[in-house]
Amino acid sequence: MIETSDMTFENRMVTPEPMAEDREAENSLRPQTLHEYIGQDKVKENMAVYIEAAKRRGDVLDHVLLYGPPGLGKTTLSAIIAREMGVNLRVTTGPAIEKPGDLAALLTNLQTGDVLFIDEIHRLSRAVEEILYPALEDHAIDIIMGKGPSARSLRIDLNPFTLVGATTRAGQLSSPLRDRFGIVQRLELYTPEQLTDIVRRSSMILEISCSLDGAMEIARRARGTPRIANRLLKRVRDFADVMGNGEITREIAMIALDRLEIDPLGLDSNDRRMLDMIIKGYGGGPVGLETLASALGEETVTLEDVCEPYLMQLGFLARTPRGRCATDLAYAHLGYPAPNRNTGGGTSPAAPGQMSLL
Ligand code: ADE
Repeated sequence: MIETSDMTFENRMVTPEPMAEDREAENSLRPQTLHEYIGQDKVKENMAVYIEAAKRRGDVLDHVLLYGPPGLGKTTLSAIIAREMGVNLRVTTGPAIEKPGDLAALLTNLQTGDVLFIDEIHRLSRAVEEILYPALEDHAIDIIMGKGPSARSLRIDLNPFTLVGATTRAGQLSSPLRDRFGIVQRLELYTPEQLTDIVRRSSMILEISCSLDGAMEIARRARGTPRIANRLLKRVRDFADVMGNGEITREIAMIALDRLEIDPLGLDSNDRRMLDMIIKGYGGGPVGLETLASALGEETVTLEDVCEPYLMQLGFLARTPRGRCATDLAYAHLGYPAPNRNTGGGTSPAAPGQMSLL
């Protein structure tokens, strides 16, 4: 399906959230070991040490919290952790665990050392979280049997296990839960060079012929996100098959990505709409997130999780205590003249690394 410009955040080509069509490819493309995993060097180096140390001591790995924008490989990393530890992996998500009993069922089926991966862990209900605390700390759960004065608490011992929690919003975790993770790792957006390596690796696995500069073009427009890079690779292949000889060259990639309305820096119509609103609607900012979201008809979390990390990485958006501001780089990218910051009119800051006249 070729997307059109009126697509929503959910179905747009560059959403970092998983789309149905990603599932099959993601499974075949997932790296299986830390060695195969490209990027996130600090996380990889640290995890390699923690895994090796736990294995040498014969210990269960401490609980791990992975946080950062969607699509960066948190699920992949949890599978790698389980594999490198030589244990089973159980995968679930915060919203799927509706009742304390759902979690109890998962926990009582874990074997010693197993990894329980809970995606979107910030969406666990309070009642479920309460069950998790003693499970994490004492390897036991307390079940309340009966009601009223005759209610009894029954303690069930669990096998020691590792919880790997993933979230896009570490700030939304309750502090008792956050404090129970011994290992906390932040995943960063990938550089275009790392994404180029990922596109090259994926094209080999999928047997797609792709030149280096074709891969670089896809990488540049993938918003720092492997999931998007792999999705764009498949769409660009369609153009290479129909319009060329099947090889993804830079020229084919540029034509395809332009047709998908993804600009040379990876911005799509929604990113441009957001910057446009800040610049034209609010004089470049500062504008509060809530105000901006309602002006755009979007959820604040969508702007925060999906648009902002990449716009900030590009230096197009600044978060200030008074709200969001478009930077000079954003004005230039959208083809607007730089704001005159000496007149007291525009208040948006220069991009990081630029001289500000304020
Ligand atoms: N595919 C998706 N993410 C990847 C990564 N970080 N390394 C290698 N291949 C990937």
